[in-house]
Amino acid sequence: MSKLKIEDMWGLDPSFKFFTNKRNKFADLYKGEKIILNSIIDNKLSVLDYGCATGGMYKILKKKIRKLNYVGVDFNERLLDKARILNPGVKFFSTKEYKKKLKNKKFDVVLILGLLHLNSDWKKIITENSKYSKKYFIFDLRETEKKGVENILKSNFNMQFDSSEKKYRNYKIPYNIINSFKVQKILDKKLIKFKKFIEIKYEGKPSAKSKTPYRNVIFANYCYQK
Ligand SMILES: C[S@@+](CC[C@H](N)C(=O)[O-])C[C@H]1O[C@@H](n2cnc3c(N)ncnc32)[C@H](O)[C@@H]1O
Repeated sequence: MSKLKIEDMWGLDPSFKFFTNKRNKFADLYKGEKIILNSIIDNKLSVLDYGCATGGMYKILKKKIRKLNYVGVDFNERLLDKARILNPGVKFFSTKEYKKKLKNKKFDVVLILGLLHLNSDWKKIITENSKYSKKYFIFDLRETEKKGVENILKSNFNMQFDSSEKKYRNYKIPYNIINSFKVQKILDKKLIKFKKFIEIKYEGKPSAKSKTPYRNVIFANYCYQK
């Protein structure tokens, strides 16, 4: 297993290239994400995008929201630098600074897409960021009806992305698959100020870049509302 910190692994070339070119068009999104975004789109929205990579979501939302007030946050500096180059004039903050910068600011929408299943502290990320929402809180998880797995040795994702270079397979991060019943109990407790507005679940194969004990996982997309 690599000694590189997880936040630095996200800046390795395959991930950097992937997020520079993909996930920046509505068509690139998962079906659950498309349905949820289409349900909340308005003429004027403020959006906090936690785990923004190179800011692809800014491009997607800008096409749909006339008056968009967007802030992107990420823990990888290389991706953030690229986000600033690709989206001049847009605010992108690192995780080190964003709490100070945002102070008590609240957003119509807080998005956390494609990262909770890749973080061991996913519950803390939900707690810390849901508080920036004044209306919608949108996120996704990977779930199972069976026993969940939150152990990087048993279930992990490697940072090879679309690269043919096998060395990147050695850079592994957690790939959490959480029991659905447990998820609901946790969300009921953590999101007490919200009501569930949309829940979309469908079964699919886990990411080709992951090693997990399960052949199928549930892709769960949630939109909570205040
Ligand atoms: C799989 S990508 C998803 C990017 C984007 N949200 C999307 O849906 O296309 C994960 C992104 O979140 C960032 N990330 C992962 N864990 C994070 C954490 N704990 N805090 C902040 N950023 C994180 C990574 O650097 C990367 O840019």
